[in-house]
Amino acid sequence: MNTIWIGTSWKMTKTLAEGREWATGLRGHLESAHDGRAPAGIQPFIIPSFTATTTVRGILGEDSPVLLGVQNAHWEDAGAWTGEVSVPQAKDAGAQLVEIGHSERREHFGETVETTRLKVAAALRHGLTPLLCIGESAEVKEAGGSSAFILDQAAGALEGLSADELSRVVIAYEPIWAIGEKGRPATIEELIEPFAALGAEYTGRVAGLLYGGSVNLDNAADLLGIEHVNGLFVGRTAWKLEGYLELLRIAAAHVAG
Ligand code: 13P
Repeated sequence: MNTIWIGTSWKMTKTLAEGREWATGLRGHLESAHDGRAPAGIQPFIIPSFTATTTVRGILGEDSPVLLGVQNAHWEDAGAWTGEVSVPQAKDAGAQLVEIGHSERREHFGETVETTRLKVAAALRHGLTPLLCIGESAEVKEAGGSSAFILDQAAGALEGLSADELSRVVIAYEPIWAIGEKGRPATIEELIEPFAALGAEYTGRVAGLLYGGSVNLDNAADLLGIEHVNGLFVGRTAWKLEGYLELLRIAAAHVAG
């Protein structure tokens, strides 16, 4: 049985006080319900804003079973890149994972296949887990090109990696039309073909193949049942701790079969 990844990005939400409350609650839940470990078969991860990285690391502790991530990092280790944060800096602040190429960054901040490739390499160089996000627009989907498009995005970002490096990468398929307030939940049927395409290429070769985009408490179990899906990457539903804990329970039930 593959590990099931259950993670959330807080995107640009939460004050430090709110982040502290959420992380303290998660830690308390894992201590009281799971002896401080992750639920069996599950890899939890959380991706706060940069400003909350050290705070959340401090609350989780150094040996936490919860992976801590950042939502972006630059490909250079240091230098004159105003407003950017490097992978070594993210690592120094307590991060173990770097989210790369989310569609919001591709759309609003000029992320390209080339920059995602450089960032994946930077994360791997410093021993952090790259979480590569891929996904097609509604226009590409309507033209019938979803699978080819996402395979191209992934291949471009992962070009040149050794089998060992690839085995440390997590891929999240997040169709743009399914993300956020403007998106609509994908049906299970719509996801079968893209995951068959991704699975044929990457199952067994990467650390995880996740789905993201309007994941909620009603569709999470069915999404986990899709062939080749071994995790969920969640925004809004997990911003309240109770939502995230419920997703952990759904994943635990899935693992228990
Ligand atoms: P929502 O779950 O809010 O649609 O966001 C998904 C996402 O973009 C996770 O990275």
